[in-house]
Amino acid sequence: MAYETVIVEVKGKVGVITLNRPQALNALNGQLIGEVNAAIDGFEADAGIGCIVLTGSEKAFAAGADIKEMQGRTFPETYLDDKFETWDRIGRRRKPIIAAVAGFALGGGCELAMMCDFIIAADNAKFGQPEINLGVIPGAGGTQRLTRAIGKAKAMDLCLTGRMMDVVEAERAGLVARIVPLAELMAEALKAADAIAAKSLPSVLMAKESINRAFEVTLNEGLRFERRIFSSLFATQDQKEGMAAFTEKRKPDFKNG
Ligand code: CAA
Repeated sequence: MAYETVIVEVKGKVGVITLNRPQALNALNGQLIGEVNAAIDGFEADAGIGCIVLTGSEKAFAAGADIKEMQGRTFPETYLDDKFETWDRIGRRRKPIIAAVAGFALGGGCELAMMCDFIIAADNAKFGQPEINLGVIPGAGGTQRLTRAIGKAKAMDLCLTGRMMDVVEAERAGLVARIVPLAELMAEALKAADAIAAKSLPSVLMAKESINRAFEVTLNEGLRFERRIFSSLFATQDQKEGMAAFTEKRKPDFKNG
């Protein structure tokens, strides 16, 4: 597929998607979200890929949904179109996705980063949900995922005032997993992605699903779910290999099965 709004690359066992609409600070239009989904489809189908990195430019991960694309829409058009259903697919994928965020991650940009499994942020990153300044509210998870990530007080503060938070505040609040110098962002994100891609794929997929389950169910149901997954991984060759390698004091050679 020929991509126009993203750059898609394979680096070893890692699939890299770079948002590429520099003239609009990577504002997220329908074409771009379609291309991100198509690129992830390709990586999910590729047995050689163990982890995905989604990134933007040094100035902007993404400055939000494309305001110019939405501007003239009516309520029924927006409701019937339900465009964020397509966006939400990104949050339902199986393979792990790391967001490598530099610069602005605002509105839909912050929401897109939160659909990924964790965020590694450059020291110039800024996060916010400024939709209130446009006479609307976040529409792709900003009131929901942000509240789960950083709690009610800060989610209210950000969504009601529309202010941006810097990366130190974002890390302290629990939105960001790691802060790295801007010049090292991609190297650090790729290092983390390589480490994940070197694990047994079934356990990586199950760990991701189990953690995400914590946001959907009660603690007891989540614990039961985790225990079933833990037990089922004993049906894999990789469990035999991982535990044999530990007792034999060598590196495991996982076959992803
Ligand atoms: N949609 C469309 N175009 C955008 C955009 C957006 N979200 N953000 C920036 N752009 C465009 C600007 O219009 C400008 O284009 P022109 O040169 O053609 O005018 C170009 O990108 C550069 O932007 P600025 O000149 O504004 O750059 P700046 O450095 O002065 O400011 C900024 C940067 C503070 C991020 C500012 O661009 C801004 O406030 N952008 C909008 C942020 C926003 O409101 N995001 C939420 C969008 S709604 C949403 O996301 C809904 C949802 O929940 C999914």
